[in-house]
Amino acid sequence: MSPSAPAAPPVPATEATPRNLETVGLTKSFGGVHAVDEATVTFRHGKINALIGPNGSGKTTFFNCVTGMIKPDAGTVTYRGREITGKPSHRIARSGIGRSFQLCRIFPRMTVLENMLVAVRSTRLRQLIGGARNAQEIDKARGLLTRVGIDHLENVEAGNLSYGQQKLLELAGVLMGDPETIMLDEPAGGVNPALIGRIGKLVTELNAEGKTFLVVEHNMDMVMSLSHHVIVFDRGRPIAEGTPSDVQADPRVLEAYLGI
Ligand SMILES: Nc1ncnc2c1ncn2[C@@H]1O[C@H](COP(=O)(O)OP(=O)(O)O)[C@@H](O)[C@H]1O
Ligand SMILES: [Mg+2]
Repeated sequence: MSPSAPAAPPVPATEATPRNLETVGLTKSFGGVHAVDEATVTFRHGKINALIGPNGSGKTTFFNCVTGMIKPDAGTVTYRGREITGKPSHRIARSGIGRSFQLCRIFPRMTVLENMLVAVRSTRLRQLIGGARNAQEIDKARGLLTRVGIDHLENVEAGNLSYGQQKLLELAGVLMGDPETIMLDEPAGGVNPALIGRIGKLVTELNAEGKTFLVVEHNMDMVMSLSHHVIVFDRGRPIAEGTPSDVQADPRVLEAYLGI
C-alpha cells in the first residue's frame, strides 16, 4: 500500500456474542401511522435484551411483525441465520421463539392446568390433531407451574387469578413449548412488586440455563437490573443501544422520553 493511500477503515470489533434475532429495514404502517419504520435491530444470543421506548414507539408492533402475528410491509426478520419474514406464527414458534402478550392471553374459563396443556398444543401440530393428554405433558405442566410458583392453583379457573399470577401462567405456558428465545411484552405491567421480583428472578435463572430473552418493559428498575443489552425505540426504530448504563447516560434517550 502506498503511503498516500487512505487509511483502511477500522475493523469492527468482533461481537462477543453471536446474533440471535435480526431485523433489517422492518416496516409496518397502519394507515398514515408508521408504527415500525425501517427498524434495523440485532439482538444478542444467550443474553437478556431489553427493548424500551415511549408509549406508541412501535415495540408491540415490532414484536408482532417478528412473531408472525402481523405481516410487515417491508424489511426482513432473520432468526439464527434463517429468514423468517412473514412466516405464520406457529411456524415461527416451532423455530424456537416463544412469546407473551402485553395484555395477557389466557383462557379465563379454563383451569390453570388446562391452560398449560392448550399452550403446548398450539405449538405442536401433532398434538393439535391427536388431542391426547399424555401423562408426560401433564407432569411437565405441573413442573413448570411449580417453577413459577402457582402449582397450588392448578385447578382454579385462570380468570380468577390475580393479574400477576396470570402473567406467571402465561410465562409457564410459553415454557411448555421449550423455546430457546423468549419474547416478553411488558411482563411487569400491572403486576404487584412481589410478583415483579419473582418474574425478574425467573428471567435471570432461565437465561443462566441458556435461554435468550427479548423483553419490552417500562419498569426501568427491572430493565436496568436485568438486561445485558438495551435497545431504545422511538417512532418505530432504534435510536440508541448499549449496556444499561450506556443508555441511561445517552441524551437521545432522555429526549425520546421527554419528547423534546
Ligand atoms: N392495529 C393497529 N391499528 C392502527 N394503529 C395501530 C395498531 N397497532 C398499533 N398502532 C399504532 O402504532 C403505533 C405503535 O404502537 P405500538 O406498537 O402498540 O407501540 P408500543 O408497544 O411501543 O406502545 C401507535 O401509534 C399505535 O396507535
Ligand atoms: Mg406495547
